[in-house]
Amino acid sequence: MCPPGKDVSQNGNIKTLESVGTIFEAEDPDVLQILERARAINVERNRSFEERIDHFEGLSPHGRRSGFNTPGSHTCFETQAMVAEAWENLRRSTVYYRSQPVGTIAAMDHSVEELNYDQVFVRDFVPSALAFLMNGEEEIVKNFLLKTLHLQSWEKRIDQFKLGEGVMPASFKVIHNPVTNCEILIPDFGESAIGRVAPVDSGFWWIILLRAYTKHTGDSSLAELPDCQRGMRLILSLCLSEAFDTFPTLLCADGCCMIDRRMVRFCLILNDFICNIRFRSSSVAILYLISVLIQGVYGYPIEIQALFFMALRCALLLLKQDQEGKEFMERIVKRLHALSYHMRNYFWLDLKQLNDIYRYKTEEYSHTAVNKFNVIPDSLPDWVFDFMPTRGGYFIGNVSPARMDFRWFCLGNCVAILSSLATPEQASAIMDLIESRWEELVGEMPLKICYPALESHEWRIVTGCDPKNTRWSYHNGGSWPVLLWLLTAACIKTGRPQIARRAIELAENRLSKDHWPEYYDGKVGRYIGKQARKLQTWSISGYLVAKMMLEDPSHLESDADKLDSSGVVVRDSNELVLGSCFIPALTVMSPFAAEALAALYGLRFALDLGCMHVVLESDSLTIISKLRSVVDDLFILRPYIADARLVSQAFASCQFAFTPRSRNEVAHCLTHLGQDSAVEMFWVEEVPPQAFALVQADLRCSESP
Ligand code: GLC
Repeated sequence: MCPPGKDVSQNGNIKTLESVGTIFEAEDPDVLQILERARAINVERNRSFEERIDHFEGLSPHGRRSGFNTPGSHTCFETQAMVAEAWENLRRSTVYYRSQPVGTIAAMDHSVEELNYDQVFVRDFVPSALAFLMNGEEEIVKNFLLKTLHLQSWEKRIDQFKLGEGVMPASFKVIHNPVTNCEILIPDFGESAIGRVAPVDSGFWWIILLRAYTKHTGDSSLAELPDCQRGMRLILSLCLSEAFDTFPTLLCADGCCMIDRRMVRFCLILNDFICNIRFRSSSVAILYLISVLIQGVYGYPIEIQALFFMALRCALLLLKQDQEGKEFMERIVKRLHALSYHMRNYFWLDLKQLNDIYRYKTEEYSHTAVNKFNVIPDSLPDWVFDFMPTRGGYFIGNVSPARMDFRWFCLGNCVAILSSLATPEQASAIMDLIESRWEELVGEMPLKICYPALESHEWRIVTGCDPKNTRWSYHNGGSWPVLLWLLTAACIKTGRPQIARRAIELAENRLSKDHWPEYYDGKVGRYIGKQARKLQTWSISGYLVAKMMLEDPSHLESDADKLDSSGVVVRDSNELVLGSCFIPALTVMSPFAAEALAALYGLRFALDLGCMHVVLESDSLTIISKLRSVVDDLFILRPYIADARLVSQAFASCQFAFTPRSRNEVAHCLTHLGQDSAVEMFWVEEVPPQAFALVQADLRCSESP
């Protein structure tokens, strides 16, 4: 609270955990926190069976397993046996290079043609790596990171064209050269893949995994290696480079991620038109081809945008603060702001937004346009009106001019939750949607890769008549057990472990009996996929990661998955709020920087409002003493502290005062809100609704004699 009779800005700050620098460093992307929590469980591996069952039962917020019918659920013994079998299979999938473990093979099914399933895929290895890390087996992860980094430096060519330096391989294999009697690693950067598409997601997964490794082991020496720093910068250069973009999202080719075949959807009106006439004359056939080239190839798929966001956040924590690193950090911070704004506003769909789009006018011009991308309401597919629950929402598949892919994609939505790309409200709406559309999205086998399937002429045009992607199969509405770990992590993050438990029980009914298939087919995922490999490694490791993450709920309510943040409130001499804001630390690289920036913003705010006499209060002694000091500050804080001092000179009087947190409740509340946000937010002449009551209480306090 401010002393009466003065214009003041108040600054509150909370350290999310007592000890900065522990494995629970507060500024971490959330999935990594969850990973850490899961590790804590593993230490308890020796607990007796009974204890473990009790413990497991205790996961429900109501104390016992409840809320869902589990008639077919496994006994604890069966579950333990399944976990043991999964570990055994995961170990068998290990790939060695010159006697060192370097990854896991995509599938161990030798009954069908191997194609490239005998390779180590970057994206497939992620759940394996997480399982190994949680189990204290770090070597394989380190080797994998180093070997793939080494492969990145290969000169990559497709025909006469040289690919960007930063491209990471989609996969690699170990070849034994009989002549030299030596093993070599052969990467695939897309030159052998179906469609010849370079994997955009590999680089992002690599950065995310590097952060997971660093966080888990507490060993930053790997990430700090000049080669690792360079590898990261090369990946970032590719995705942060300037071009003709008008959006902060990343434009990429179809098939550049987990869905590595053509699956981009485009305007239905055009489809119908083309389909009706496409075989009538050769000129129409040409028209059809042109439309595919223009409309069907490039886009902004949610999976890539969410991974992009998460990788940027991880990179911010991994980059060294040398000259080069700092330049990238500045670019990352700017991009994170723009990207989260764009995604949260334009990719988000709930009942209200759907209704708004349904009523959109088209042909709007200039800055006042509501229908910014000129989406034609008639292109809204029928199914989305039935699919959208009253409560709930999701990030749609793709947004570009006049084109919205309304399909629900699992990976993108889960990663959006884990990375805090989704606001807390959006994260919880996604979970609401999963609950209310359980039959459609989870059915008998978790989890639909996307919903709904494309059928008939739409399938023909969108997939190019792909026989593997027929309706409700594979990438076209198939059910992928690997997605279980992402769902579980999202459930934990949103405090809904019971949803994950229910999904895991479903998987346990069949996964092992069916020999861990790659995917399931059918509307509810009842059938083993038509061309699904058995013993698919990421189905195995995804299950293990989900199990391990869910095993310990004790950290669910903790602040460990929050960001550091600083809250500011500016009041006048009558205690009335003139403005408020919060600044998450991640957007400015460190908790102290957030505190310093909060002070600077508060002062600027007060100056804009014409305040003459100011007392800036903060519960951070460090910041107060730095503001009072005349000595130049550390590298990272210097600009903020110097600016704050400069602004302070513009007032008739300005003091810096330390205030204990208990006297700073509103700022403290703002700080809490900021912990769930990836971007800073401002309120003019008000505070966010969550802080109303505290402001009222302060006012009552100051009015009482
Ligand atoms: C399929 C999947 C791809 C995966 C690969 C290896 O091509 O679409 O995401 O990485 O198989 O499992």
